[in-house]
Amino acid sequence: MTKDSTTGQGNLPENKDALFLDQKLRPERWEDYIGQTHIKQNLEILLRAARERSHPPEHLLFYGPPGLGKTTLAHLVAKEIKAQIKNTSGPAIEKVGDLASILTNLSSGDILFIDEIHRLNKLVEEILYPALESGVLDIIIGKGPSARTIQLELPPFTLIGATTRIALLSAPLRSRFSGGVFRLEFYTENEIVEIIKRSAAILGVPLEGKAGLEIASRSRFTPRTANYFLKRARDLAQVEKRVLDEHAVKETLRLLEIDEIGLSQPDRHLLTILIEKFGGGPAGLSTIAAATSEEQATIEEVYEPYLLKLGLLERTPRGRTATKKAYEHLGFDYPEESQEKLL
Ligand code: ADE
Repeated sequence: MTKDSTTGQGNLPENKDALFLDQKLRPERWEDYIGQTHIKQNLEILLRAARERSHPPEHLLFYGPPGLGKTTLAHLVAKEIKAQIKNTSGPAIEKVGDLASILTNLSSGDILFIDEIHRLNKLVEEILYPALESGVLDIIIGKGPSARTIQLELPPFTLIGATTRIALLSAPLRSRFSGGVFRLEFYTENEIVEIIKRSAAILGVPLEGKAGLEIASRSRFTPRTANYFLKRARDLAQVEKRVLDEHAVKETLRLLEIDEIGLSQPDRHLLTILIEKFGGGPAGLSTIAAATSEEQATIEEVYEPYLLKLGLLERTPRGRTATKKAYEHLGFDYPEESQEKLL
């Protein structure tokens, strides 16, 4: 790509919106957010009650696999109560001073959104406790015997935390989310079809035949994945000058190496290694990570939730095991004695 002499950012497309497709696909109104019905119902009551009392809602935690809409929901909560939202993330807040500066710059009623909140460091986390509980910031001035603590009063605010790894959150931090701890669930196939239809309308691309259903059935019940497949299928239809129907979707997903139940190449690799190298398991997470050259966190956060949901993988106290369904899906013979091994 050649450099644009005025911006130094390369050739910008005529329509800059095209660069921010994912942003465009995010629902901007509460009623446009499809799925997660139970969470939405609970939040509606909580937000309405808070509004009626003219008080910011209590702190909220959203958790669940990536791509299910935790950030989107946090932004919609802010919109619903007409609050300003400030965005940051666990790893971005490196020092106590970083958090102190974020907190002291909040205005009354603001929402502070901390993504990947499980990655906050211990010292930062401890400063957060009194801020969440009593709305104060304890600052230590000086060092050694002359050190003293001063307390700063913070404006009332709501923290919304998001994490893919609830188990890594310390119990004291988890207990501070007094408004509720909400687990986002995988979407149903119907909900994903609705999301795809909405996204296709925003992108201005007509879906023909069973295109929506074909994408939905392989999207890991995850809107981000569904929207990604939709964008790639739209590319293929455009480049090959064909309609975006189920055949175009099938061809797109064949090229992306996504199989008919939505498994990607790394998913299949993980199961294959477990079966071929470890006799189907049980094998520990670190062993599987080393054998597949994947990060343990990626296995736990990205691959496992869907494999567990499909019943292709099981977690036992002794490690991960590939199920009979996994053997069958990948075309391996299932050794019946491996069931006895588990008993
Ligand atoms: N796009 C991504 N997630 C969505 C959702 N839950 N509802 C509507 N559109 C979405």
